[in-house]
Amino acid sequence: MTHVRNAWHVAAWSCDIAAEKPFAISILGEPVVIWRSASGAIRALEDRCIHRLAPLSLGRCEGENLRCLYHGLLFAPDGGLLEIPGQDLIPPKAGVRSYPVADRHDWIWVWMGDPALADEALIPPAVGTSDPDWILGYGQLDYAADARLICDNLLDFSHLPYVHAQSFQAGPEFAANPPKITPVERGVRVTRWLPADVGNWRNPHDVPVEVYQTYDFLVPGVLLMWSANYPEGTAARLGDAIPAMDDALSGLNFTSQAVTSTGPGTARYYFSWGPHCRHGDAAKRDGMMKMAGLAFAEDKTMIEAQQRVIAMTPDPKVMPTAHDRGVTLYNRLVEKLARHNPSELESAA
Ligand code: FES
Ligand SMILES: [Fe+2]
Repeated sequence: MTHVRNAWHVAAWSCDIAAEKPFAISILGEPVVIWRSASGAIRALEDRCIHRLAPLSLGRCEGENLRCLYHGLLFAPDGGLLEIPGQDLIPPKAGVRSYPVADRHDWIWVWMGDPALADEALIPPAVGTSDPDWILGYGQLDYAADARLICDNLLDFSHLPYVHAQSFQAGPEFAANPPKITPVERGVRVTRWLPADVGNWRNPHDVPVEVYQTYDFLVPGVLLMWSANYPEGTAARLGDAIPAMDDALSGLNFTSQAVTSTGPGTARYYFSWGPHCRHGDAAKRDGMMKMAGLAFAEDKTMIEAQQRVIAMTPDPKVMPTAHDRGVTLYNRLVEKLARHNPSELESAA
């Protein structure tokens, strides 16, 4: 399956990269080592020593540099080879690939494509776990499934009444109220009003409220969503206008999620979720995270099983339904951005 290389891929939680402790991950099937140097700078290099291909993530930070702890080759932060113990001649062009890397919104982002195109303005505006306006819990899951299947899932919430009937207590309202889908820069926007309802976990009131829910889904697989409760009649009054967060009655919450392709048929899924500080507390966050834990395990069971069936299917084809408009629009964008740089077609299947 095609993936967009020219994008910022979430590689880790910022708090998981300790000073001078190299961290290993593969992204699009490429081994990457990430570390914070003595000066606090964040670095990302190919995690493969040019001597005998040992992982540099088993190496040692020395000031700004990283030493392979197999036979001691020393690499500069830009990947250049600085030292071969016991050998004076250093081949001038020898080194490993370095990747543009940024520490933003409490995630570490790595640009996997052409370094000349790595613009930090393209980092999706996720809400970091340390943002004081929100009380967020966070977690991650490793998938034995291609990242594209997880993106498809996140772009079509009509699966909620079926996959998440227990965890999110989703009823037929998700399939019955198709969202509005609009293209946005490097992604799609999915927006819906759920009809006035009472007696579900989202609504703490004893009168019906309408739920507004909106998310942007951005390459290479970043979902940024907020939702909140509004008085009955708000949807009709506003039409297509976006309600103000400040006007929410209750339940204002935010989730940032990122799907990273780690290789052909594997992915890592990062997520945070919780209430706005005026709409909940740590106990509310913990309740939401417990629900999310159950729900995301339900997705994982279904998507990994789907992946196994796809793997047994020669030339797999899908039959989109009316609910797949967001999926189709996003997947077209992925194919277009991948075509833009021919090497992307060679990336992880
Ligand atoms: S493999 Fe890295 S120094 Fe030998
Ligand atoms: Fe789901």
